[in-house]
Amino acid sequence: MNTFTTNIQLVYVLAAACFVVGLHLMNSPATARRGNQVSTAGMAIAVVITLVLLIHQGSVTGVGWTVLIVGALLGSLAGLWSARRVQMTAMPQLVSMFNAVGGGAAALVAVNDYIEMESAHSGVLGTTTVFTLLDVIIGSVTFSGSIIAAGKLQGLITGSPVMLKGGRAINVGLIAITLGSAAFMLTTASLPALLVVVLGSLAFGVLMVLPIGGADMPVVISLLNSCTGIAVAMAGFVISNWGLIIAGALVGASGGILTKLMADAMNRSLGNIIVGGFGTGDSLVAAAVTGDAQIRAIAADDAAIQLAYASKVIIVPGYGLAAAQAQHGVAELAAVLESRGVEVSYAIHPVAGRMPGHMNVLLAEANVPYPQLKAMDEINPEFPRADVALVIGANDVTNPAARRPGTAISGMPILDVDQAKSIIVVKRSMGHGYAGIDNELYTNPKTSMYFADAKRAVAEMTSAVKTLVG
Ligand code: TAP
Repeated sequence: MNTFTTNIQLVYVLAAACFVVGLHLMNSPATARRGNQVSTAGMAIAVVITLVLLIHQGSVTGVGWTVLIVGALLGSLAGLWSARRVQMTAMPQLVSMFNAVGGGAAALVAVNDYIEMESAHSGVLGTTTVFTLLDVIIGSVTFSGSIIAAGKLQGLITGSPVMLKGGRAINVGLIAITLGSAAFMLTTASLPALLVVVLGSLAFGVLMVLPIGGADMPVVISLLNSCTGIAVAMAGFVISNWGLIIAGALVGASGGILTKLMADAMNRSLGNIIVGGFGTGDSLVAAAVTGDAQIRAIAADDAAIQLAYASKVIIVPGYGLAAAQAQHGVAELAAVLESRGVEVSYAIHPVAGRMPGHMNVLLAEANVPYPQLKAMDEINPEFPRADVALVIGANDVTNPAARRPGTAISGMPILDVDQAKSIIVVKRSMGHGYAGIDNELYTNPKTSMYFADAKRAVAEMTSAVKTLVG
């Protein structure tokens, strides 16, 4: 290994160190922003050193450079534009589109390498390695699967599980044909076989995601994110690029761990999610308020009195808070309560909202102090000491039905909201959450329902608290 190659490798190690340190910093909301910056720096270093390597090898010609620079510019602009424009509630579908691009690019790297080597060797087997085939298969499945997942979340494709007649048999057939062609390519160079592998994998990606309910898409997206990482690592082996191997392995491993954590937090197995049929997307059709004697409604003034004269309030944010964009209003309400000497904290369930860390990111945007954000295990023992639990747009993650068997959310760890002395729930109706079941918390004698859009309700309560003296 000459000095130049050694130096290149060392710079890749530096980039890898940035990725690892960046990931570590993302462990806590307080350091997550810096983690992102360190990881971005690592990626910039990896891109620059790869360009230096290409120049040194002279492997890119004039037209190649034009394509490379124009492509990189267009890609960067598209990424920047979409990341700046996206609403927090639409982040999962953006991540899914990024996964599609990553998986598709990784698959194209292997396809291009295969075609080049195949023509250079006049059809003689040169590079059909297991890595090439895994890259093509995983990258293509990720590409098409991620596009379907994004379409479901965006509402372009129905969020309901789409069960094709004979879908399972079709999937088994597709897997057999794809893997059969791949096995054939290990011994015989064949472009038609490569085409079969690509098309078979693309079709499998579509058919794998279609039967999964829209509400399970965040877990599927996390799984596909992990697949993107694996495909990229395989691409790294195909073209011998350390940057791709390391970054891909990190994404593959962290995406896999995240997928497992999300499934655990819903008490679902990954197999149960992939088999599909659970959840039909957000419950947009709100059930009418029943007028049931057990449901107690509350208005701003009464809610304000409870909050203002409490010594401890725990705010429980959920998907509805994000949908209403009420994070700034909640932060203001908390500040007003704190100015009256009320102790305020936020209970963060690991799968509140529609993506990992959804509530942390949302509340960080409103400059809520990080020490006030408490994870489920930390906050649950505090509920019995809370005078008021203020639930805002959170449903399933507070449903005591999870504690007994036989319900859609049985076994799911929940926030022990019902242990608080008094409970105020802000939501627009008696409509269901993601799991599509009634919430037993709403008929608890300690619970009062504040039926309104979260942003409006929070503003009304804040104004009402401000009018109280003493
Ligand atoms: P959900 O159980 O989905 O409940 C959200 C509630 O917010 C709904 O009942 C809805 O009731 C209310 N809402 C919607 N828009 C609102 C608005 N503008 N103002 C006020 N309220 C509004 O949410 P959650 O408690 O956050 O639980 C998350 C669920 O998603 C869990 O079941 C979890 O398993 C699932 N999930 C999460 C993830 C991740 S990673 N976070 C991934 C996959 C699945 P109304 O219509 O009556 O207003």
